Amino acid sequence: MKFGIFMGSTTGNTETAAEAMKAEIEKKVPNSVTIHNVRTADLNAMRDYDVVVIGCPTWNVGELQEDWIEQLPGFKNIDLSGKKVAMYGVGDAKGYAKNFQDSLGILGEVVLDKGGDVHGFWPVDDYNFEMSEGVVDQHFLGLALDDDNESHKTRDRINAWIQQLLVEVGA
Ligand SMILES: Cc1cc2nc3c(=O)[nH]c(=O)nc-3n(C[C@H](O)[C@H](O)[C@H](O)COP(=O)(O)O)c2cc1C
Repeated sequence: MKFGIFMGSTTGNTETAAEAMKAEIEKKVPNSVTIHNVRTADLNAMRDYDVVVIGCPTWNVGELQEDWIEQLPGFKNIDLSGKKVAMYGVGDAKGYAKNFQDSLGILGEVVLDKGGDVHGFWPVDDYNFEMSEGVVDQHFLGLALDDDNESHKTRDRINAWIQQLLVEVGA
């Protein structure tokens, strides 16, 4: 089973998370993960993977990270029908409590519209925020990370989410 992580990262937190995810997945499925930075990635490469993992922090108050903004029109043309897709976001629940993890909602809408089979929903219970575009039924549309306030929780959250994801996709 091949995993492609497609992520954008301005100050490095989303990229560091991708590297930790790759290491965790490859403990179970060796040599299975390729990380693509959407600054230069061709999103058509998503078709080469059994599981596509999409990573995007929220920036500039409720917006996608800049490289995802550039790629968004092309992303809307990618056919994801039947493709297993998981998402993760990075945000700041204290500083941007009313827009926490909005990127999950913005990209999630596209993924669902393009027929993606979304896995890795994640409960909101362990987070303190006011509003998010990335929540449906008390679950984020993917893993929510907050390195500004809770970096000490990041590694455990990643590992738990990856275990959940591997079970869900049958890896
Ligand atoms: C100007 C600015 C705006 C931000 N806006 C949001 C936001 O609306 N929602 C949110 O959850 N986080 C927001 N953040 C927090 C970033 O998402 C967070 O710092 C993240 O770790 C950055 O990820 P990166 O290092 O991968 O670029 C903002 C940060 C800055 C500096």
